[in-house]
Amino acid sequence: MTSHPALPNDLAPFWMPFTANRQFKAQPRLLASAEGMYYRTVDGRQLLDGTAGLWCVNAGHCRKPIVEAVQRQVATLDYAPCFQMGHPLVFEAAAKLAAMLPGDLDRVFFTNSGSEAVDTALKIALAYHHARGEAGRTRLIGRERGYHGTGFGGISVGGLPSNRKAFGSLLPGVDHLPHTHLPERNAFSRGQPAHGAELADGLERLIALHDASTIAAVIVEPLAGSTGVLVPPQGYLQRLRQICDRHGILLIFDEVITGFGRLGSGFAAEVFGVMPDIMACAKGLTNGTVPMGAVAVRQGIYDAFMKGPDSAIEFFHGYTYSGHPLAAAAAIASLDLYVAEGLFARARELAPYWEQQAHALASLPHVVDIRNFGLVCGIELAPRPDRPGSRAYDAFLRCFERGALIRVTGDIIALSPPLIIEKTEIDALFATVAEALRAVG
Ligand SMILES: Cc1ncc(COP(=O)(O)O)c(C=O)c1O
Repeated sequence: MTSHPALPNDLAPFWMPFTANRQFKAQPRLLASAEGMYYRTVDGRQLLDGTAGLWCVNAGHCRKPIVEAVQRQVATLDYAPCFQMGHPLVFEAAAKLAAMLPGDLDRVFFTNSGSEAVDTALKIALAYHHARGEAGRTRLIGRERGYHGTGFGGISVGGLPSNRKAFGSLLPGVDHLPHTHLPERNAFSRGQPAHGAELADGLERLIALHDASTIAAVIVEPLAGSTGVLVPPQGYLQRLRQICDRHGILLIFDEVITGFGRLGSGFAAEVFGVMPDIMACAKGLTNGTVPMGAVAVRQGIYDAFMKGPDSAIEFFHGYTYSGHPLAAAAAIASLDLYVAEGLFARARELAPYWEQQAHALASLPHVVDIRNFGLVCGIELAPRPDRPGSRAYDAFLRCFERGALIRVTGDIIALSPPLIIEKTEIDALFATVAEALRAVG
């Protein structure tokens, strides 16, 4: 037999997520292995990972302590339920995460993904008000251009038309803040843009329209990642926090992308100095190795549920795999590795170099904006008039051929490498993107 074991002979059965299936299957791109900063394709080519997988492999690929922890765990306790049962590792994982989280977010509910973390966060917000005798607070406020995963809760509060329009009426009672993308005033900002804090006042208008007594929570990504790297304007998150406080509305941060060092500190809440009441996270929680998400809340929110007889289940919610032993083992090993290698500080130290190299692309063809924060950067291209999105997609293909994995959304290139990236690799990543921008028409 000479066939390569990593090459499947039939691509048809797998219905691929968020993929142009027909285009992909006509010209597949298959990854076979990974280590550190690099993927290897099935045909043996090395690819520099400019996107940490899907914003999740913050410590780099196949890191030994995580791999070994998962291997040990699968051979020791493969599965254990967390409904009316438990296993020590899940408590350890929750305690470790609580210790790493900022402020008083110290009660943790585990899920299996970011989407489930978002839906769980929204349900906690609704049930919290219900438990406190404010059951009329049922509205949820999201934001245009927000991405909160693909559950019905997440797409309802999310603000991406393509993710919503085919799926019926979604959750009732949801409204949206305006997005914060102001290219005419903020193009080529380095770090937080100067203009747009006043966009938070859109919340006051929604409150005037619906009345605060009907609103449970506002959910935002502190920095919107998937919709094209929208960095919050200076003062914007502070203003949202103040308005929520004034009206008894919970503020939820979706830190699925921004958590675990991406912005140069543990969490965006610390970086921007604004604490949410509830935080959703996932991705970097296990360094992408085993699916896991989490929702963290203040103790006061948890305590609001802890009433009635001791024998009563307080929150009718959970997943078969909430706190799965393999995920718990991966989370503990990942959080330990982040601390041991000082990866969040490393991201902070590299951020100025990253910013400088990113903005060096400003004069390349088609570039209409570059924005950055921490180890994230968005490069926005002018769309081709007849085929929006195709220019960035062509750049993605070109980079793939030239040995770098980048991510595109519409005509925006989003880069978010593992936090272990070296300066020479930052140079190589931007050089490949620059070459692609010169090459695509
Ligand atoms: C901010 C944000 N929230 C939620 C999600 C959904 O996470 P998952 O794909 O793990 O369900 C994502 C995924 O990219 C995300 O970026």
